[in-house]
Amino acid sequence: STYRIVSLPGDGIGTEVITEGRRAADAAIAAVGRSIDWVEYDWSCETYRTTGRMMPEDGIDRVRDANAIYLGAVGSPGVPDHISLWGMLIPLRRELDLYANVRPVRLMPGVPSPLANRSPEEVDFVVVRENVEGEYSAIGGRMYDGTEHEAAYQQAVFTRRGCDRIMDYAFALAADRRAAGKGGKVTSATKSNGIVHTMPFWDERFEAARGRHPNAETDQFHIDILCARFVTNPDWFDVVVGSNLFGDILSDLGPAVSGSIGIAPSANIDPTGRNPSMFEPVHGSAPDIAGRGVANPIAAVWTASMMLDHLGEAEAAALIEGAMETVLAMPEGRTRDLGGRASTRSCGDAVVRAIEAA
Ligand code: NAI
Ligand code: MG
Repeated sequence: STYRIVSLPGDGIGTEVITEGRRAADAAIAAVGRSIDWVEYDWSCETYRTTGRMMPEDGIDRVRDANAIYLGAVGSPGVPDHISLWGMLIPLRRELDLYANVRPVRLMPGVPSPLANRSPEEVDFVVVRENVEGEYSAIGGRMYDGTEHEAAYQQAVFTRRGCDRIMDYAFALAADRRAAGKGGKVTSATKSNGIVHTMPFWDERFEAARGRHPNAETDQFHIDILCARFVTNPDWFDVVVGSNLFGDILSDLGPAVSGSIGIAPSANIDPTGRNPSMFEPVHGSAPDIAGRGVANPIAAVWTASMMLDHLGEAEAAALIEGAMETVLAMPEGRTRDLGGRASTRSCGDAVVRAIEAA
């Protein structure tokens, strides 16, 4: 069968790494006898400059029927970041209700990490971030501008539906991982000692979720000590679920402790399957190195593997992951951010060769 995937390379190194990620996906899916029909749109800050829009008015409708969306990064010097974010990324996440943001964290061979003294089995967890509500609400404002009483306030909004569905997703993911022989514990990020309305509610909903998943092992930490434990005790974690803000923090911390931003993948998932999920490397458009062919394509490659896994192509996904590990383990496979000298293209070539050789 053929998958229809919308590719949105975006700006800067987004276009460079998506090219390599697509080649890896094509090679892996061909190896299992299927194919991908790519539909590419050039939505980006570049198009914003000429059209005044990041994406066309009917942009969401154009992606709605795809099996998945594969995004590079958007952002360009001269175009304010809130335009690229609110003109494209946030509408895609919210209108498609991609409420689960998922970021795996693993030690990879050849990737310098503050945790490099750990074994790969000890550092293997997933951060699940609530992606559409919580602290990132537009409700709030300012008072008494310019006076000594000047103030700002912002409301966080947590709904029962929003909490329950992200927690159920985390528990289901933990059960899958347990079935695959990995941990299977769900850890909740909270702060109910300091934030006295929304976080106790979050804890209550976590308790209710435990009731729905009685066989799961669980744990909870306040966000401050949880951040410390990511660094000192990464082996304690398997699936970590957090609100929009806490999940945002943890999902940058995770890749940071496990190595380079150049390898970190992420997924924005609609677990109901009604809408296409969107897969993107964690990194941005990196204007400082864009256009030079030196960006690390591994984040995009790993992201492609998550995408195929989500589409039910576990075998193709595993082919990509294996190839990635092979390439990272070879000094000549690594790009500059990992201390090597490979170009974006030569690293991508090595991944394709490793897939074809598997
Ligand atoms: P960034 O991730 O683009 O770059 C941070 C640093 O990491 C830079 O020094 C860059 O060279 C390096 N880096 C990132 N990815 C790399 C890769 N694959 N290989 C080698 N080195 C890599 O973050 P920054 O600089 O804060 O943002 C740049 C632009 O990207 C901004 O306009 C920002 O809004 C946008 N951005 C977009 C995202 C998205 O589309 N999802 C996510 C993050 C940032
Ligand atoms: Mg972030």
